[in-house]
Amino acid sequence: MTTGQLIFILLVVAPSYFFTVFSLRPLSGDRYCDINKLPSPKSLRSDQFTVLINGYSESRIPILKTVTSVYSSSPSVAAVVVLWGNPNTPTETLVEISHNLSISSPGDAPITVIRQPSSSLNARFLPRQWISTRAVVICDDDIEIDRKSIEFAFNVWRNNPEQLVGLFGRSHEIDLINRKWIYTVHPDRYSILLTKFMLMKTEYLYKYSCEGGARMANARSIVEEMSNCEDILMNFVVANETSLGPVLVGAKRVRDWGDARNDGGPVDEVAVGLSSRRKDHRKRRGDCIQEFHRVLGKMPLRYSYGKMIDSIGEQGLCEKGGKLVFCDKQI
Ligand SMILES: *[C@@H]1O[C@H](CO)[C@@H](O)[C@H](O)[C@H]1NC(C)=O
Ligand SMILES: *[C@@H]1O[C@H](CO)[C@@H](O)[C@H](O)[C@H]1NC(C)=O
Repeated sequence: MTTGQLIFILLVVAPSYFFTVFSLRPLSGDRYCDINKLPSPKSLRSDQFTVLINGYSESRIPILKTVTSVYSSSPSVAAVVVLWGNPNTPTETLVEISHNLSISSPGDAPITVIRQPSSSLNARFLPRQWISTRAVVICDDDIEIDRKSIEFAFNVWRNNPEQLVGLFGRSHEIDLINRKWIYTVHPDRYSILLTKFMLMKTEYLYKYSCEGGARMANARSIVEEMSNCEDILMNFVVANETSLGPVLVGAKRVRDWGDARNDGGPVDEVAVGLSSRRKDHRKRRGDCIQEFHRVLGKMPLRYSYGKMIDSIGEQGLCEKGGKLVFCDKQI
């Protein structure tokens, strides 16, 4: 081989080698993080929000139909987008699901299904050029919430736009004996909201996916390795930003289809005992907290107390002689 040939090979092969290496890195959001391609925060509308639902399994489509149609009929919802994470679902099927969800919904907000660019859980939080609202709801495909409670949560968020607002609270705590962080449910305080329903400022998607340098890149890799805990990391990001805990909202009616304990009533999560699977789940979530603390070099999570409830709604309005009155005044 002549020197000329060698240089030729280096010039031609080396760039593609580097390209391969880069494209094999964990999803870093590179093509999503170009801030010039994203709408400026000022141009986003604040009277409505966008719903991003995680979808994966075709067997859950009947539930997904109900869930998407509730959101789509809410006047505060601008768009409902199902982020499809199952790479094995053919594109034609996705188009069909999209169509089926749209025709079965009486609501005004459009419903679309899009394929996630990767199976990484971090992809739930990718910033998107098509989000036109100041707020987004990140939620699961098996959580059904009544429309009034969704509206109420949005009102709570509008009064607390820097904080995470949600319906399911958890807590970090220190285990003094083993000197490490644990994940738990505490009866009267919480520091973590779950992505079963999480309402937040759209800008936090960018913060999660594109900011925070090497430390956040490490934290996002932990999410990928564990296939878990993206919700916990978002709580870290927002608490770090605001130095505040999240805001928990009480819903009137929640159906958690993914949860065998639920028979349709409100979820009483504190009263539930620990199965061994659940114990393992908690241990893994505790490990995430421990790891995030280590790679980020601090523990930003803050506790909040109490829960916002829609007091008028709680009391219940009844119709009597063509007028709405509080139900307890009816008798
Ligand atoms: C869409 O709806 C049609 C008619 O109800 C049904 O036959 C089909 O299986 C549905 N497709 C998917 C992907 O759910
Ligand atoms: C936490 O906040 C600091 C100061 O604003 C910032 O430099 C850092 O990147 C943030 N870390 C994370 C994980 O967001």
